[in-house]
Amino acid sequence: MHTRLYKKDDLLKEEVKTDIKETLLSGKNVVFPTETVYGIGANALSQEGIENIYRVKGRPSDNPLIMHIASQEDVTTYAYMDTPYVKTLMDTFWPGPLTLVMRRKSTVPDNITGGLETVGIRLPSNDIARKIISIAGVPICAPSANISGRPSSTLLEHVLDDFDGLVDIIIDGGKAEVGLESTVLDATKKTPVILRPGIITKSMLETVVDKVDLASYLQEDDIPQAPGMKYKHYAPSGEMTIVEGVPSKVVDYINKQIKKYLDKNHKVGVIVTSDLTDKFKGAFVVDVGEKTSKITIASNLYIALRKMDALGIDYIYSLAFHENTYQEAIMNRLYKAANHTVIKV
Ligand code: TXA
Ligand code: MG
Repeated sequence: MHTRLYKKDDLLKEEVKTDIKETLLSGKNVVFPTETVYGIGANALSQEGIENIYRVKGRPSDNPLIMHIASQEDVTTYAYMDTPYVKTLMDTFWPGPLTLVMRRKSTVPDNITGGLETVGIRLPSNDIARKIISIAGVPICAPSANISGRPSSTLLEHVLDDFDGLVDIIIDGGKAEVGLESTVLDATKKTPVILRPGIITKSMLETVVDKVDLASYLQEDDIPQAPGMKYKHYAPSGEMTIVEGVPSKVVDYINKQIKKYLDKNHKVGVIVTSDLTDKFKGAFVVDVGEKTSKITIASNLYIALRKMDALGIDYIYSLAFHENTYQEAIMNRLYKAANHTVIKV
């Protein structure tokens, strides 16, 4: 298949708008940027479009898809706003990286919810994403645009690596602003529950709702409640280890490992903050930004993981980023990428 690549300015052209609309309405897929990560989109009301997504991504069909809408009024067509706080959350955090899981109406096709009685809905803030949904005139289902098991795409180059020739249209939106997927919140419960942490954090949510729980598996590595959480995700091909402890000890430990593996002719990669980039000789070092800078580590994390794969790194060591505002989301993805292999020094 020849994939058509469009840029933001192309969306002003009538023939491009028509192409996008017809592609989506005929059950085909368009990859587009959102503020979190790129999404692979299909008309949420098209059986064929949804089946294509599962097929192209290689995604298990019991893992439900998020429905993206262009305006808050559209929610009630697809979901019941049962809980008293859910509208306040929409008013406060939409448009933006928050997915609300609500009881679904019968207007939602069965094959996007993986058999659940709920549906996850989000109103993205990214201009291009909103434009695509408006052009289509229907809600758009969009999981992250990555082949299942790979890190989500946050750069056009990631999207092309995974989907060039496999989807009809890809829209270039540059680097994703946030870089980690949306917060998924179960809003059907009296006390809402975070099923997947994102940059809308528990404490941000608690500025408008009395109390927010974290899904138990996020605290104890227990059985997942969001179907997506049970699959091994975001995993680079190399063997990844997170090293936690005081910086000097972390540096020493990683350097010992680098020496050990270099002696055996393996490639070693290190994911670090800017203050430590010159400490690891012989390893491939990826700098994810300043320790406390609000968004940089989040937005560079998947770039770092994909870079390790591209370079064929055998052993990857990453620092822990507990000091960052978005550590909830960052560490969640990092622990999963490392399959929970953590060394405390
Ligand atoms: O930021 C994002 O959310 C991106 C962009 C493209 O919008 N999308 C995304 O979709 O990350 P996906 O499919 O990769 O992840 C959706 C997550 C999965 O963990 C899924 O299990 C969970 O949301 N989810 C979706 N609907 C759900 C529901 N009804 N109940 C519980 N979890 C749900
Ligand atoms: Mg995903």
